[in-house]
Amino acid sequence: MKPKVPVIAIDGPSGSGKGTVARHLADRLGYHLLDSGALYRLTALAASRRGISLEDSGALAKVAADLDVHFGSDAHGEEQIWLDGQDVTTELRTEETGAGASRVAALQPVRDALITLQRSFRRAPGLVADGRDMGTEVFADAGLKVFLTASAEERARRRHKQLKGKGIDVSLAALSRDIDARDRRDSERSVAPLRPAEDARMLDSSGQSIAAVVNAILGWAKEMS
Ligand code: DC
Repeated sequence: MKPKVPVIAIDGPSGSGKGTVARHLADRLGYHLLDSGALYRLTALAASRRGISLEDSGALAKVAADLDVHFGSDAHGEEQIWLDGQDVTTELRTEETGAGASRVAALQPVRDALITLQRSFRRAPGLVADGRDMGTEVFADAGLKVFLTASAEERARRRHKQLKGKGIDVSLAALSRDIDARDRRDSERSVAPLRPAEDARMLDSSGQSIAAVVNAILGWAKEMS
């Protein structure tokens, strides 16, 4: 039997640092990267552009199944995402798109529609997959699963800094409220709720540098190979 392409699954709540950590890990290992949250964000954005209601699960699943998306990077190596041939990188990161993503992500038909696309990112030499259900659903056979957390205050602070850097201005208090609401919706939903896989390693990134978190995960990855 052909050996399976290795996967490192990084799950956790919004602002835990998953995205940054996953990108660094993929760079260090020369692996492919899946930002699965972007697919839910793209579905919400495409639906809103087409005037599709965020309650119409059938139409939303179709939008998800037919996503015309392209992932790339700009001259500085920053992630860039195109939808229907148009650069939507900044729009994708707004809190509004995030809230829409959290709503469409609660719909099973949308999740089902995105499974094949997500699994198609698993290509040699390996994949780092970042999301909420990478270790529990999409890549349940991943060789290494990490559940990354951070305190709510730290997550709000990080998100604030990240958005400011992108020229998006939003108050810290409003951001904390949004993060709380989104966490609750993501953890309490009946389909694929945010929870660590039974065999996930727990890692609290509060007060830790990105490099320290990345090195801890690389250490685990080495143990595993
Ligand atoms: O990681 P993010 O903020 O880009 O994710 C946007 C939303 O998508 C978030 O509210 C949860 C949802 N999501 C999910 O349900 N499953 C994933 N694998 C990734 C994201």
